[in-house]
Amino acid sequence: MFMALKKVLVTGGAGFIGSHLCESLLSRGVEVVCLDNLVTGSQRNIAHFTGNDKFSFVNTTTCQKFDLEDGFDTVFHLASPASPVDFHRIPVEILLANTAGTYNALAFAKERGARFVLAGSSEAYGDPLHHPQKEEHWGNVNPNGVRSCYDEGKRVSEAMTMAFHRKYGVDTRIARIFNTYGPRMRKDDGRVIPNLMTQAVKGEPLTVHGDGKQTRSFCFVSDLVDGLVRLGEADHVRGGLFNLGNPHEMTILEAANLVKRLSGTRSEIVFTGRPEDDPARRQPDISKARNMLGWEPHVHVEDGFRQTIDWFRGVVK
Ligand SMILES: NC(=O)c1ccc[n+]([C@@H]2O[C@H](COP(=O)([O-])OP(=O)(O)OC[C@H]3O[C@@H](n4cnc5c(N)ncnc54)[C@H](O)[C@@H]3O)[C@@H](O)[C@H]2O)c1
Repeated sequence: MFMALKKVLVTGGAGFIGSHLCESLLSRGVEVVCLDNLVTGSQRNIAHFTGNDKFSFVNTTTCQKFDLEDGFDTVFHLASPASPVDFHRIPVEILLANTAGTYNALAFAKERGARFVLAGSSEAYGDPLHHPQKEEHWGNVNPNGVRSCYDEGKRVSEAMTMAFHRKYGVDTRIARIFNTYGPRMRKDDGRVIPNLMTQAVKGEPLTVHGDGKQTRSFCFVSDLVDGLVRLGEADHVRGGLFNLGNPHEMTILEAANLVKRLSGTRSEIVFTGRPEDDPARRQPDISKARNMLGWEPHVHVEDGFRQTIDWFRGVVK
C-alpha cells in the first residue's frame, strides 16, 4: 500500500517547504537530489546537508529541459515562487515556472518512470464560493488580476499534471497546499505570518489588512511535509488530488493578537487596505487526505507560532 522511497528529485528544494521536505526525506535514509535556481530559495536553507552523501544540489532552472542521472523513483515538484511580493516582482518567471517548468518536471518523471507529486495551491480556489473548500470546488479566480500569474499558473500546473497522467499514464498526485508557515520563511516575503512576526520582533506596529475578519487556516511546515511524503509513498492514489492544510480557521486579527501575545511585543495592531483579490475565507476540508492517506495535522497553532517566532528572532536584525 505504501512504497518505500529510495531516491527522489525535489525541485524547489532550497526553498522554505522544499528544504524541510529534503530534511524529512534524508532523515528516513532517502537519497535526495535538490534542483533549484535560487530565485526565491537560498543555499542557507540547505547548508546543513553539506557532507551528507545522500544529498546533492543542482543549481539550474526547471524552465529548460534538464538531465540528471538515473534511478529516481519519485519527483516532488515544488519549484515556483509563492509569495505575494513575487507576484509583482517576477510574474513572468512565476508563469514560466508553472508552465514550462512543470512540463519539464513531468517530462523528466515520464522518461524515468517516476512518480510525480505536484505542489499545487489552495490559490486554485481563488476567492472560494464554497466553504470549507473541498477538492471538487472548481474555484473562483480572476484570470488577469495581479495574483493571476500565480493562481492561473498553479491551475495550469494541475492541468499539465493531469494531461501527463491521462495521456502518458504518469503516476501523478496533486497536493493543494493551504497556507503553510514555519522556520525558514523569508522575513520579507509579504505573507501574513512573516509580516506579523517580523514586525513583532522589531517592535513595529502589526499590520492587518482591511478589518482583519478575513480568515486563513495555517499549517505548520512539519505537518505539511508529512502529508507530502505520504502522498509520494501511497500506492493507491494515482491521479489523485488532495487538500493538505490545517482546518483550524482563524481570522487575521486573531492571528495578529496571537503573535502579539506569544511574542510579548508591545506593538499596536494597525489596519491597512486590503490587497487586490485577497480571498475572504480559506479553510481546507481534509476528509479525503484523512481517509485515504491517514493524514492530519498535529502541531497546535500556539506551538507552531512559538517555534516560528523564535526562528524570526534569530534572523531579524
Ligand atoms: N508556503 C505556502 O504556504 C504554500 C501554499 C501553497 C502552495 N505552495 C507551493 O509550495 C511550493 C514551495 O513554496 P515555498 O513556500 O517553499 O516557496 P519558496 O519560494 O520558499 O520555494 C520555492 C523554491 O523554488 C525555487 N524555484 C522557483 N522557480 C524555479 C525554477 N524555475 N527552477 C528551479 N527552482 C525554482 C526557488 O528558488 C525556491 O527555492 C511552491 O510550489 C508553492 O507554490 C506553498
